[in-house]
Amino acid sequence: RQGVIDVPVVVHVVHSTPEQNIDDAQINSQIDVLNQDFRAANADVNQVPPVWRDLVADARLQFHLARTDPLGRTTDGITRTQTSVTDWDTDDLVKFSLSGGRDAWPADVYLNVWVCRLRGGLLGYAQFPGGAASTDGVVITHSAFGTRGTARAPFDGGRTAVHEIGHWLNLRHIWGDDDEGCSGSDFVADTPNQAGPNLGSPSFPTATCGNAPNGDMFMNYMDYTDDAAMFMFTKGQAARMDATLDNARLTLSR
Ligand code: ARG
Ligand code: ZN
Ligand code: CA
Repeated sequence: RQGVIDVPVVVHVVHSTPEQNIDDAQINSQIDVLNQDFRAANADVNQVPPVWRDLVADARLQFHLARTDPLGRTTDGITRTQTSVTDWDTDDLVKFSLSGGRDAWPADVYLNVWVCRLRGGLLGYAQFPGGAASTDGVVITHSAFGTRGTARAPFDGGRTAVHEIGHWLNLRHIWGDDDEGCSGSDFVADTPNQAGPNLGSPSFPTATCGNAPNGDMFMNYMDYTDDAAMFMFTKGQAARMDATLDNARLTLSR
């Protein structure tokens, strides 16, 4: 693929309290992070250990709040929905007006992002390519969205949306989703095989599954480390996202 794909985003803010009705500045702060991280233009990319510097990928994606709504009218790319539902689960109910949420915009044109209060400390969840258009997109809890307003440490770096959009473009968790085993794979050749998720801010190197001396690539966006501890996609991951944009999500580049 030549050039950068510019993805129109609609942010659906679904709120039951004034606090959850996050302001435009918080939303823009999230878009800014996406535009840094998916271009390897993030300030912390220089913290990638030297052994992996050549693997750092510019995913060549940029994002902007939609300027036209599904009916062709001018929009700021943000919908706001007041609801009586106090918090939400991974059951997709936030994606439907009938259940107190907000309906998706056409998923072949827009990346739908729902921001609401998720239950039980859940930061976000995503739909992989190939699913129903009505539930396509990512859901992020308001306190892990953007870098200001209601965003709270250690998830106030905007990296939850980066991680979830990675899933939306078909990236798997870097440890291969087999918990602490070494048999699972993320189907990416240039990420080290790793046992389970890393949490917090590990120190380099942290070896598992015989991957010494460099160990786990816990600074990858598809691990579970804190926002300040993750700062890269690999070239293999970017190739996998490219393949998705050439196939299941081809309409987004038109
Ligand atoms: N737990 C979520 C998931 O599996 C997101 C984790 C995001 N991590 C972060 N540092 N923001 O999709
Ligand atoms: Zn995940
Ligand atoms: Ca791998």
